[in-house]
Amino acid sequence: RPSGAPDASLARNVTKVGIVGAGLMASQLALLFARRLEVPVVLTDLDQERLDKGVGYVHAEVDKLLAKGRINGDQANRLKALVTGSLDKKAFADADFVIEAVFEDLAVKRKVFAEVEELVSETCVLATNTSSLSVTEMAAGLKHPERVVGFHFFNPVAVLPLLEVVRGEATDDATLATAFAVGAKLKKSCVLVKDAPAFVVNRLLTRFMGEVIAAVDEGTPIEVADHALDGLGLPMTPFALLQLVGPAVALHVAETLHAAFPDRFKLSENLAKLVEAGKPGVYGPNFQIDPEARAIFSGG
Ligand code: 3HC
Repeated sequence: RPSGAPDASLARNVTKVGIVGAGLMASQLALLFARRLEVPVVLTDLDQERLDKGVGYVHAEVDKLLAKGRINGDQANRLKALVTGSLDKKAFADADFVIEAVFEDLAVKRKVFAEVEELVSETCVLATNTSSLSVTEMAAGLKHPERVVGFHFFNPVAVLPLLEVVRGEATDDATLATAFAVGAKLKKSCVLVKDAPAFVVNRLLTRFMGEVIAAVDEGTPIEVADHALDGLGLPMTPFALLQLVGPAVALHVAETLHAAFPDRFKLSENLAKLVEAGKPGVYGPNFQIDPEARAIFSGG
């Protein structure tokens, strides 16, 4: 049993999963839940185009697994059939586990949970994949705050084993035990973390990324800062990681941490400008530094 996890016998069975959102994180989650739990997974989003994109991602990833020989044709067809999209959250009515992966805004997430709470059973777990927001605050005001838990995955979801499970102030043992049981079925290494700004892992990563970005803000060429640690055996360079996570998400986490611990987490105006410019990161096609991104960091 992972450290701090409640008695596994308290865990409830999960026979259907709902996912709020159909973006890249949500669709990665859809594939993982369908593959490992082998239960129906329904995605919801604001419009058909987003839903189609999310379900399309799952189908494409299933085809890749088939091509690599990781699953057979029957399994591929079954997986595709398990993941569906619906514009109506009423599709969650018989779900036992709903996870939200929508925009990182506390008010938006609270609204989503309030809406879902009206549709699901009293014991359905409401999980949030938030990167940095308070699980306790997200649950506040709900009829059943005890069913809310943080379930924080890392990109790429299919590959990275880590899963932070966050206990909010109101989270009860049955919810937490269900979260750990689901995490184990997803084959993730679950760690129980405190409901603190950005939990544990993003706190460390943001400090690390913040220093690399600060070096560039202070005049170190991007390539030099990005490759300075090559010899340490990190799986990818800091700016490649920024690109994987997305500058907007990284900035959001940095802002949450800056608000909580202003002395320890500085904000980079250049990172904010990169987000404003809509850049996917500092790299353009073929992993060449994007000239506009370089100009932003050189004060141009
Ligand atoms: N989606 C699905 N699968 C992916 C993938 C993706 N985006 N990227 C890589 N993979 C798979 C590949 O298909 C390959 O699978 P296979 O073994 O079945 O063929 C496997 O991962 C290894 O890929 P590669 O050989 O191409 O590349 P690497 O060995 O260099 O690994 C990596 C790529 C796993 C991304 C590795 O570089 C890594 O671990 N990087 C660090 C990532 C990290 O730190 N993520 C945390 C970000 S913070 C976060 O997400 C929190 C949020 O709140 C901000």
